[in-house]
Amino acid sequence: PKFAVFASGSGSNFQAIYDAVNDGKLEAQAVLVVTDKPGAFVVERAKNVGVETLAIKPSSFSSKEAYEQEIVKKLKELEVEWIVLAGYMRLIGNVLLEAYPNRIINIHPSLLPSFPGKDAIGQAMAHGVKVTGVSVHYVDAGMDTGPILAQQAIEVVDGDREKTEERIHAVEHDLYMKTLQKLWSR
Ligand code: GRF
Repeated sequence: PKFAVFASGSGSNFQAIYDAVNDGKLEAQAVLVVTDKPGAFVVERAKNVGVETLAIKPSSFSSKEAYEQEIVKKLKELEVEWIVLAGYMRLIGNVLLEAYPNRIINIHPSLLPSFPGKDAIGQAMAHGVKVTGVSVHYVDAGMDTGPILAQQAIEVVDGDREKTEERIHAVEHDLYMKTLQKLWSR
């Protein structure tokens, strides 16, 4: 299927998914990267591999609805079938949810329902959990609350956020691709 990746940051998950497609591990087509942060590194990554980008700031629209309508217009133009969130730091609103019912997937760096929202890794470290992980889930109107598609546990490296984060990102890059593979081969 044709999909769009939404991201606000570095875009390492976009890169991993794009590479999987490019290597023939994932039968799909990345047709668009959407970002709310025009300066984010994900824009450079998309340009490097020739994927179209839509970089628009929500603050230049009169409402969240108007912002999302602009995105939906582009998604429809490109015949996008699935939305893959990868570090997109915004709650998805009704316009997108209604345009793509059960077609929006997210990855979150914790074992949901623990530690939803921002800085899940920091939250887990602050709580002192010994095991955390990664979740891939359908997106609904809540914050990291939709039905879970896949999870993988990771041992926390005690007191070492950087090493823990490295482990989490490595698992994310593998798990996202594999979960999409299963989802899209049904
Ligand atoms: C990932 O940890 C993702 O789970 C979280 O934001 C991070 C994005 O990383 N929601 P990147 O931009 O894909 O490198």
